[in-house]
Amino acid sequence: MTIFSVQSTIFSRASVVLLSSNGLKRFSFASSFSSNAVYSSPLPKTKKRRCYPIVSAVDIAGVTIARNDVVRDDDPTNNVPDSIFSKLGMQLHRRDKHPIGIIKNAIYDYFDSNYAKEFEKFEDLSPIVSTKQNFDDVLVPADHVSRSLNDTYYVDPQTVLRCHTSAHQAELLRKGHRRFLVTGDVYRRDSIDATHYPVFHQMEGFCVFSPEDWNESDIDSTLHAAEDLKKCLEGLARHLFGAVEMRWVDTYFPFTNPSFELEIYFKEDWLEVLGCGVTEQGILKQSGLDNNVAWAFGLGLERLAMVLFDIPDIRLFWSSDERFTSQFGKGELGVKFKPFSKYPPCYKDISFWISDSFTENNFCEVVRGIAGDLVEEVKLIDNFTNKKGMTSHCYRIVFRSMERSLTDEEVNNLQSKVRDEVQRKLNVELR
Ligand code: PHE
Repeated sequence: MTIFSVQSTIFSRASVVLLSSNGLKRFSFASSFSSNAVYSSPLPKTKKRRCYPIVSAVDIAGVTIARNDVVRDDDPTNNVPDSIFSKLGMQLHRRDKHPIGIIKNAIYDYFDSNYAKEFEKFEDLSPIVSTKQNFDDVLVPADHVSRSLNDTYYVDPQTVLRCHTSAHQAELLRKGHRRFLVTGDVYRRDSIDATHYPVFHQMEGFCVFSPEDWNESDIDSTLHAAEDLKKCLEGLARHLFGAVEMRWVDTYFPFTNPSFELEIYFKEDWLEVLGCGVTEQGILKQSGLDNNVAWAFGLGLERLAMVLFDIPDIRLFWSSDERFTSQFGKGELGVKFKPFSKYPPCYKDISFWISDSFTENNFCEVVRGIAGDLVEEVKLIDNFTNKKGMTSHCYRIVFRSMERSLTDEEVNNLQSKVRDEVQRKLNVELR
């Protein structure tokens, strides 16, 4: 059985949807585009002002997705901005000379040599998934914060941009896969700083065991899976980082029990590199695997790459500046990045009275929508409530390009747009 028979599609116009082999929906009305590029067009009908070209369609593994299917000005649930839509077809993890692709390949090498190529690899599954795939299938509770519009990009009430690669666990199990790695771009609404970006890359690992795998040992099935998982991931950490100190921390995920995080000691600090655990039986049951156990992990590739290659700012992964891209080569793990230049930052503060519906993620989205990758950080620097109960926030926005010096005029212009748009979109009162 494929997931598609149970998936409520994004696009309720089911009659024009054809299902393609890689899980993407193909739209007959989008076929006027050829299928090998990202297409820019003059501004389509829109009220929004932007400082970057609008992309009217993206290509994901050979399938064209039109902007209007993902960015919907007319749907109040839709919170996907153009800046995010334009990232959909980029697939940094499939570029062999990009740090994200280099790390992915190094992890593939580890699994291929230690597990005799038992792990199947998936890396072009569509990031546009149903809420069922992203949440329900992996037992995320109905009131879990990750389901909110503040945290997740919704295309419509039943469709999101996946916020983790765990969204594919159930579909692959149902299709009969038992050991697999899923790599892909994931999307989360978040704050802005050097280690957070609304799009990043994850690799999911999943491994199912049968009774004969643990019957010979004395330990129970859950313990067997947990021990195997830890052994596998400690080996992976050593493969990537060499002889590092590491520790396991107990944690909680809705889809695993017990759940763990692996931290490694790096530059005088413990750094969380992945989440994992023994899969909840409910997930296996959905695929008729009542008598099995499994483990799963999800690791963040940017996090690993920043450490391994000494990359100081997460925005750099999206740079097409040759001074960045030329520093990395296929299979060259751990080359240290040499910063090509540090351009001066420019700080601008903005203060306003917030409304009840105000959230920092919404504010950051407005700033990113205007300044794109020219914004390095957004920090709350002052926060107080007056006698009338009105709350004021003051944010410091750090503008800095990684590629050139910004002019005063350019930054003033961006800041003035931010001031206009926060008032208009976020219902706040500037001070
Ligand atoms: N999906 C989790 C996350 O994104 C990571 C994870 C995957 C944890 C698989 C446990 C098992 O944070």
